[in-house]
Amino acid sequence: MEEYIVEMRHITKRFPGIIANDDVSIGIRKGEVFALLGENGAGKSTLMSMLFGMYTPDLGEIYVKGEKVEFRSSNDATARNIGMVHQHFKLVDNYTIAENIVLGVEPMTRRLGIFPSVDMKRANREIAQLSKEYGLEVNPTELIQDVQVSVRQRVEILKMLYRKAEIMIFDEPTAVLTPSEIDFLLRIIDGLRKAGKTIILITHKIEEIKQIADRCAILCRGRLVDILDVQTASVQEMANMMVGREVSLTRVKSEPHFGKNVLEVQNLTVLNEHRFPVVKNVSFSIRSGEIFAIAGVSGNGQTQIADAVAGLEVASEGAILLNGKQITHDSIRSRAQAGISYIPEDRQSTGLVLDFALSDNLALRQYPKKPYSDHGILNFGRIRENAVTLIDRYDIRSGQGPKTIVRSMSGGNMQKVIVAREIEEHSDLIIFVQPTRGMDIGAIENIHRYILDERDRGAAILLISLELGEVMDLADTIGVIFSGEMLKIAPAREMTRYEVGRYMMGVKEA
Ligand SMILES: Nc1ncnc2c1ncn2[C@@H]1O[C@H](COP(=O)(O)OP(=O)(O)OP(=O)(O)O)[C@@H](O)[C@H]1O
Ligand SMILES: [Mg+2]
Repeated sequence: MEEYIVEMRHITKRFPGIIANDDVSIGIRKGEVFALLGENGAGKSTLMSMLFGMYTPDLGEIYVKGEKVEFRSSNDATARNIGMVHQHFKLVDNYTIAENIVLGVEPMTRRLGIFPSVDMKRANREIAQLSKEYGLEVNPTELIQDVQVSVRQRVEILKMLYRKAEIMIFDEPTAVLTPSEIDFLLRIIDGLRKAGKTIILITHKIEEIKQIADRCAILCRGRLVDILDVQTASVQEMANMMVGREVSLTRVKSEPHFGKNVLEVQNLTVLNEHRFPVVKNVSFSIRSGEIFAIAGVSGNGQTQIADAVAGLEVASEGAILLNGKQITHDSIRSRAQAGISYIPEDRQSTGLVLDFALSDNLALRQYPKKPYSDHGILNFGRIRENAVTLIDRYDIRSGQGPKTIVRSMSGGNMQKVIVAREIEEHSDLIIFVQPTRGMDIGAIENIHRYILDERDRGAAILLISLELGEVMDLADTIGVIFSGEMLKIAPAREMTRYEVGRYMMGVKEA
């Protein structure tokens, strides 16, 4: 028998209404990068949460370095040098970066030689050291609530490194990163492997698996389909195997038919909390039937543009017009009613009410209106019916259908909930920020089709994506943002991927 550093044998895990893992057996070799691939809801996070001690299997056994383990909590897994970076980060917002990293394993000192206290100086020193070693730059004294998603992830990785993990589980680490950050992370992972660490990588991006992984397990609806040697399997093969059907990896787009201007953004400037401009004098317009994509490296002001249009950010200067009418100072709700749908970047904090049922989340846009409510009384029958329809149309998978609490759903399926709800409004303007983040290949194919359908219906689409491939596939017009400035706006067919990439790096003329 082969020597495995981790073995999961015949693992079964049930949740109300669903078998998340059904008799799954995998063995992971020391020093390899082992990928997990599978559709949204296939059971990847659940399987790894058991290895990390967050859930206990209903059936089956886990062995680490040949010894049978029964983890009661993730502390037990940490003690066995297992670390995990979760799909949805588990950080304390009002703690600093350093406090988050050392939380629970704080280095102690004795003040005046007697009183135990946390040695934050030492913590900061060690964190600075780790940051440098792995190129994961952070400012240890910043609060988590003040930093963006990519920095939060770095903190999660540092947290794992700080706890001396040897077996490192990454749950969709690249979903939130920019292309250059992804390259960087993959190099770090490669370095960790060379240093003898064992990596388990969950990702929906098969190219990443091709690039970095040694072997790949494919899960489908809770069951293990196969474990492949990555070298010999093709991208198309892996895609088909996980979805269980032939998936198209290329987009077919009809000719656009542009109408009148739906959105006009004029000389928009947005300031951050330090009164520093993060969007600088940006102007653009989007016509009916047009997909306008903003390409750019994360953190260059693109999400603030989306937020300003939707009303979540204040425009300090400039004007925003919807169908020719000023909406610059309107409330979020009145903009929504005037015809804006919004799929935000952070699905957990702005897109969903996690402790509400799936059906309620699908009705968040409509509940104040008839027939969903009448004189303030909710029509639960109608809300449920709506959910049943959308669950089917958008292939939203969950344990208990309409009454599933959204918090218990898989990441990709949460995203489908927001997309479904917002698209179904058939608004004049639909803003998509990272619409396919964390989605499996089959689901991405569907979402791209919905976006193109809405455009062909005559909607104006503002697409913000860090995936250059997605921008190139969908956009009619591309605006490239760098450091808060719109460096270039041009028809998509007049720009190559390479040119867009150059503008993204701030290079003005080729
Ligand atoms: N705590 C929970 N309570 C109830 N059901 C759950 C819970 N956690 C997961 N599930 C269900 O188990 C199934 C598998 O979920 P899991 O999160 O493991 O999927 P996944 O493969 O990681 O998907 P994704 O790619 O979307 O992240 C889903 O149908 C989900 O709704
Ligand atoms: Mg998951």
